[in-house]
Amino acid sequence: MINEVAKILRKARKVAILTGAGVSAESGIATFRDPDGLWAKFNPMELASMKGFMSNPQLVWEWYQYRRKIIANAQPNAGHYAIAEMEKMFDYFSLATQNVDRLHHRAGSTNVIELHGNIIENYCIKCGEYYRKEINVEDKSLPKCESCGGQIRPAVVWFGEMLPQEALTKAYDASQIAEVYFSIGTSAEVYPAADLPRHAKRNGAVLIEINPNQTALSGYVDFKIAEPSAVALPKLMKLLKEE
Ligand code: OAD
Repeated sequence: MINEVAKILRKARKVAILTGAGVSAESGIATFRDPDGLWAKFNPMELASMKGFMSNPQLVWEWYQYRRKIIANAQPNAGHYAIAEMEKMFDYFSLATQNVDRLHHRAGSTNVIELHGNIIENYCIKCGEYYRKEINVEDKSLPKCESCGGQIRPAVVWFGEMLPQEALTKAYDASQIAEVYFSIGTSAEVYPAADLPRHAKRNGAVLIEINPNQTALSGYVDFKIAEPSAVALPKLMKLLKEE
């Protein structure tokens, strides 16, 4: 299967990728919907919604500080690095991620489309101003906006919130342009991101999934590489370089 994918990639000029939590799994960052994932232990409506934040900002802030600490101590894995390398191999390349951990950036990817925001930055819920002071991950106190005194929240997209329009437009453009589209490490259950691979295939792309498990997309893809991304992607790179 991976040899066939390499063969297709050798001929391709325009490639786009959508990633999800699975690409960071081998960096030690928990996914959401796997049996040991975050949503098996925590309630998303309590911790990842504006309603949850308004009813208990301290709890939500501490949960994000806890996740930030894990992410700060994690390193990009071979899958992130392979994706960063792919960027240089094609005439057109686009990477959209649902991840907020910035590990793609740290692996060297440029122009990462962040569909769900990022966990590093913060902004004010009242005036929208970004909070520029450095956040110490050990600090549990809730920061207040320096301009208006409003409550500061993490710059991630919560349930019930719109995705950043510019990011979504760019990601849809990529799924329209791509000849080959990869869905990597995502359960492909959360919309609108989950529509991107489907949109790519509707627009003629060869759709490839890299995921050790079955997903909502698995029955729809042209090729499925049922391996962890930190294993499959370096293998794919090696095959491409052998050419
Ligand atoms: P999920 O937790 O829903 O799915 C993770 C996927 O990664 C699953 O299909 C796993 O099989 C797969 N996986 C696990 N280990 C892997 C590995 N080593 N290599 C490749 N794949 C692996 O995560 P997402 O699809 O990213 O949104 O979830 C989408 C959104 O739901 C997240 O961005 C988050 C969450 O609620 C917000 O917080 C807004």
